[in-house]
Amino acid sequence: MEFLAAYDAIPPTDAAGRVGLLRRHMKSDGAALLRELREERPVFATPAGVFVTRMPDVMEVLSTPDVFTVGVYGAALEEALHGPFMLARDGADLHWHDRAHAQLMLPAEDFGPVRRLTARIADDALDRAVAVARIEGRTTFDCVQQYAAPVAARVAREYLGFGDVPEETLHTLSQRVQRAVFVNQERDPEVHASGVAAGKELHDIVAGVIARRRAGGAGPDAADDAPDDVLGRMLRTTLAPGTGRELDDERINHQLVGYLIGYQQNATQCAVTALKELVSRPDALAGAERAAAEEDTASFDGHVWEALRFHPFVPSTPRLCVRDHLLAAGTSRETRLAAGTVVHAHMASAMFDGTVVEDPETFRPDRTPVHNMVLGYGAHDCVGKYPARAIVPEMVRRVLLRPGVRPLPGGERALDYAGTPYPQHYTVTAGATAS
Ligand code: HEM
Repeated sequence: MEFLAAYDAIPPTDAAGRVGLLRRHMKSDGAALLRELREERPVFATPAGVFVTRMPDVMEVLSTPDVFTVGVYGAALEEALHGPFMLARDGADLHWHDRAHAQLMLPAEDFGPVRRLTARIADDALDRAVAVARIEGRTTFDCVQQYAAPVAARVAREYLGFGDVPEETLHTLSQRVQRAVFVNQERDPEVHASGVAAGKELHDIVAGVIARRRAGGAGPDAADDAPDDVLGRMLRTTLAPGTGRELDDERINHQLVGYLIGYQQNATQCAVTALKELVSRPDALAGAERAAAEEDTASFDGHVWEALRFHPFVPSTPRLCVRDHLLAAGTSRETRLAAGTVVHAHMASAMFDGTVVEDPETFRPDRTPVHNMVLGYGAHDCVGKYPARAIVPEMVRRVLLRPGVRPLPGGERALDYAGTPYPQHYTVTAGATAS
């Protein structure tokens, strides 16, 4: 009751005071705050929106896009991408059409090839990081800057099709857009402008990549040996010609840049936070190390998604309630939400809802994936989930296959955000070459 007692003691007229307290608690001990909300006030109305914290209610919000839309960040996202995109829209006209197109371009069959690609790029990055550390007389390297960020960007280059765009460019520009659209809830004008400018740079870079690919013959009649990356597939595909449903090069540009925004920071952060959560739990780490050596990766992957349940990249996603709605109707949590309300679907909290998830505080790598919301849920769940399910676990696995590369003893949880919303540094030992 610690948080709610303090919150209720602040007069409702002091909205800034209540929101300030909420933010401070969320930052200092979000897990304890959310536990208290789930138990005492599962649908919690604040001046910063309504926090929905229990699994069935989060599912309801995220599966009802005609009531709960992505209107909170949709306009900012399309301004940054300089055009329409599925995560900014709801409904048949654009969301379901572009999402269906994306699903064809990012199919389940990519799981194996993308996993092998990630393994190759990750091993190469680890070899380099260890070698550079030795040459420079260091015993450690930075797992974010020298491993996770460049590996994610190199996979984006080869799999998504960014060609020779430098990995640093892909990483820093996508970080500015991601921050402006999804982190900058107050819409700070400077952060927003920086994101929009970064989006324009990405748009223009991709326009150049597409023009070069077209000039080289990319299109429906491309040679059989044309690159089978995601951009190549989009350039080759014509959907229902003459119906206005095909995507021209400008729309393909928005799709590709949108994928990068949905992917680059997520993959980078997930790789290091999964590692952090695993190495902080000796039993989980031992299990993960054993599973990493198995040919069938299912058990290993279970360790990674369970680790991410404790630290997801997207803990909560906001939705705009556009019609009056009775949430959790017929339950003790039943709440009437008015049109215009901002609703925070708190996925990180839902994954700890003990009325649905058995023994949620315990690390269990064999949990059903049904209740894992790390890749979102419902109408806008991650359309890149098949490649994501290969890339993230494999980035973690390649590290754990090298016993000499581990976070520093005592520094297992020492992710350094360097004053930004994203992990920037994580020191690991540089003690081993490829096994
Ligand atoms: C690497 C780890 C990844 C994580 C943790 C992740 C996470 C998520 C989450 C949580 C959402 C839901 C957002 C919301 O409801 O507001 C989402 C949506 C989305 N993701 Fe991912 N994602 C990953 C990889 C990817 C990849 C590889 C792609 C594409 C290549 C991608 C493209 C998208 C798109 C386009 C959406 C919006 C779908 C829609 O609006 O219907 N993501 N992702």
